[in-house]
Formats: sequence, structure tokens, C-alpha cells
Amino acid sequence: MIGRNDACWCGSEKKWKKCHYPALSPTAFSQKELAQQYWKQHHILLKNEEQIKGIRASCKLAAFILDTVCNHAKIGTTTEELNQLAMELHKQAGAIAAPLNYGQPPFPKSICTSLNDVICHGIPNEEPLKKGDILNIDVTCILSGYYGDCSRMIMVGEVSEEKKRVVDVSYECLMQSIAILKPGLPLCEIGEVIEQHAHHKGCSVVYQFVGHGVGIKFHENPQILHHRNQNKLPLAPGMIFTIEPMINAGVAEAVIDSTDQWTARTQDGRASAQWEHTLLITANGYEILTPWQR
Ligand code: MF3
Ligand code: CO
Ligand code: CO
Repeated sequence: MIGRNDACWCGSEKKWKKCHYPALSPTAFSQKELAQQYWKQHHILLKNEEQIKGIRASCKLAAFILDTVCNHAKIGTTTEELNQLAMELHKQAGAIAAPLNYGQPPFPKSICTSLNDVICHGIPNEEPLKKGDILNIDVTCILSGYYGDCSRMIMVGEVSEEKKRVVDVSYECLMQSIAILKPGLPLCEIGEVIEQHAHHKGCSVVYQFVGHGVGIKFHENPQILHHRNQNKLPLAPGMIFTIEPMINAGVAEAVIDSTDQWTARTQDGRASAQWEHTLLITANGYEILTPWQR
């Protein structure tokens, strides 16, 4: 039996673990072997058919709630009203809103609403939306124990050139990074595509918050970095994770509100935008599990 530190069988003279070690060639192994490898080596859970069915249903509901809440947001609507509507929709579907009481300190509402310079984790409040605002709404629901996570932007009336740019660029970053997904793709290619496009358009990429595995828990391995990185881990069938790039008009740095310990704002006060899908890696590509409509 060849050991991890022995020379690879392929004749490269590299160690097996640095060369054709199973995790680096996912297409060469059975799904069961892969699942064992990914769990043992990376604590990544490759989902089975039954889990995929459950997560697909939860994601579909999350996308429906997200679209319904977004369609309700108009000039004068408060984000607390959107929160109430989301609560009602979760209840009607027999689902639980994952954000409520999540983390430490417990998140106080059922959705995140991130306005203008807020990057993510904004807390719904009584402030009415006004013309020129951009708003991210992030919905994560738990249906029959399975998690679905997605978010999108809305623009309230006419918005500035700069705000329009971050809204469009963050959307393009998400969709371009999804388009390359397939088994065997190194994880770092996601961040590569996103940073390349954002910089090309004169925007910066938030590095203090990441996408994540999702489905059985809210936040699972792996972390999905949206900026340039070196993670060569190959994607494998059955992986379910989010991509949720946060793109800023100015500097990349985020500052967390010291009072509520959740709201993350841009350091320079300029605009930020984000879109999020939950994705499944399939045998030859990907499936978008959260079919919200732009
Ligand atoms: N839905 C967010 C995400 O995309 C996480 C929100 S955590 C909360 O990962 F506590 F603020 F809800
Ligand atoms: Co997420
Ligand atoms: Co989310």
C-alpha cells in the first residue's frame, strides 16, 4: 500500500499527497470514497440524494420568500415591515427563519437588510426606504431541518451611477463565478473570477466575509473566498455552498458596528452590494438551488 509521503505512482517524483492523492482527482473515485475523503480531510459534507432533495426544497422556498419580500419594498416601506412579511411567509410554509437568534449576540430579526454603505448583516428597523437607496435582502430558511440561503439587491427609484455600478458588478461577479463551476475545478478559481471582474470595473472585493457550505447547518465547510486566494481544493459532486460576493465602490475594508455587533459597513462610507445563490455541484456542472428572479 502506497503511503501519503511515498513517491506518486505517476512517476512525477512528487509525494503522493502532493500529486495524485485522491482529493486532488475527484473524478477517479466513487462518490462514496469521495465523501469519505472530503469529510476526513476537510470536514466537508458531500450531500446524498435524500439531503439534496431536502435542501433543494428549502432553497426554493428561500428564493420565493426573497422575491416576495423584494417585490414588496417601495419608497416609504420600512425594513421592519419587510421583516414582518418574511416572518409571515416562513410561518405559512412551516419553515423557520435561520437568522433569528443566530450567533452571539443573537441576531434580533428574521432577515438581514443591508442598506447603501452596509455590506451585510444589517438589522431591519423603522427607517422608511427612500428614493436612491440600494438594499440587499438576505433570506435563510430552515425547512424540514434543511437550510437554503440567498440574497439579492433592490434599487429604490432612481439611484446614483456609483450605486448602480456596485449593484451590476456584484451581480456579474456572482453569475460569472457560477458559470465556471464543475467537479475538479480548484476552489480558488471562484475568487479569481470575482476579483478579476470587480477590479476591472474599478470596484473592490470584501475579504472579511465569505461564502460557505450550507444545507445541514447554516455555515458549513468550506469557506468560499471571494477574493484572490490559493485554495486548490477541487470541487466535487454533492458539494453545496453559497457564493455571495460583496463588492464595494471604494475601499474593501468593513467595520462592524460596536453597538449592535452585527451591522458591517464600508470603512469609507461608500456603497456596497451583494447577491447570493446556494449552488449544488453535479456530476458535470452545477445547479442553482435558489431560483430568485433579478
Ligand atoms: N445569510 C447570511 C449568509 O449569507 C448570514 C446571516 S447571519 C445572521 O451567510 F445572523 F445575520 F443572520
Ligand atoms: Co450565506
Ligand atoms: Co445569506
